[in-house]
Amino acid sequence: MKKIIAANWKMFKTSEETIQTLTELNTLTENIPLDNKEILIFPPFTSLEVAAKIVNNPYIFIGAQDLYPAKEGAFTGEISPTMILACGAKWVLTGHSERRHIIKEDNALVGQKTIFALASGLNVVACIGETLEQREEGNLYDVLAEQLQQTLAKLPTPLSPERLVIAYEPVWAIGTGKTASTEDIIEAHTIIRELLKNILGVSAMQTRILYGGSVKPENAHEILSLDNVDGLLVGGASLKADSFAKIISA
Ligand code: PGA
Repeated sequence: MKKIIAANWKMFKTSEETIQTLTELNTLTENIPLDNKEILIFPPFTSLEVAAKIVNNPYIFIGAQDLYPAKEGAFTGEISPTMILACGAKWVLTGHSERRHIIKEDNALVGQKTIFALASGLNVVACIGETLEQREEGNLYDVLAEQLQQTLAKLPTPLSPERLVIAYEPVWAIGTGKTASTEDIIEAHTIIRELLKNILGVSAMQTRILYGGSVKPENAHEILSLDNVDGLLVGGASLKADSFAKIISA
């Protein structure tokens, strides 16, 4: 199973800044052996097309940060999987905590988006994770179970396991500088693996589970080496090409 190192650029970078960062990343990754990794970059919609054109490394793929679950129609402001694919992007994020908490997306909508994206031919990184309050109330298991069950209900079949990736991102560790401890990460990833076995059966063992939340060059290697951690989803530290390249080579 190839490890995934993913960059979530959030609402950062114009298309010109995207060109500059990816040109640097092309150079910095030239000599990093990547045959056992997949690198995913999630720029804003406005940079998707230029990003897909500029990356020249066969191990780097582009993805969108969101989608609307319809082919086309009267959905002002929304973007369909067809449009994303036409930009040259192959991946999409669903259920990122900023969309859940700021835009108020619920589990049902995250599920619809995940299923529609997969059925449309996009590969998906579906994000889940608990808030500090939920964790402190002892609800970690229930929150992860609910998010996973609703996100993965009615998956299209057959589905090859490398097309669906889960990202565990504890909300309290995103953009805060507070990385979850290795024990916290192992506990959550073990729970997720067990839940995936119930939902997906045998393909759960081949489903990659990423960790996200204040990943940086200094902690990337240690987190990547933990049991059931199959990659990283990186926000802030992915915005500069040199810092992301260090995480890629961790
Ligand atoms: P962070 O963001 O690395 O800045 O904490 C991670 C994410 O939101 O995907």
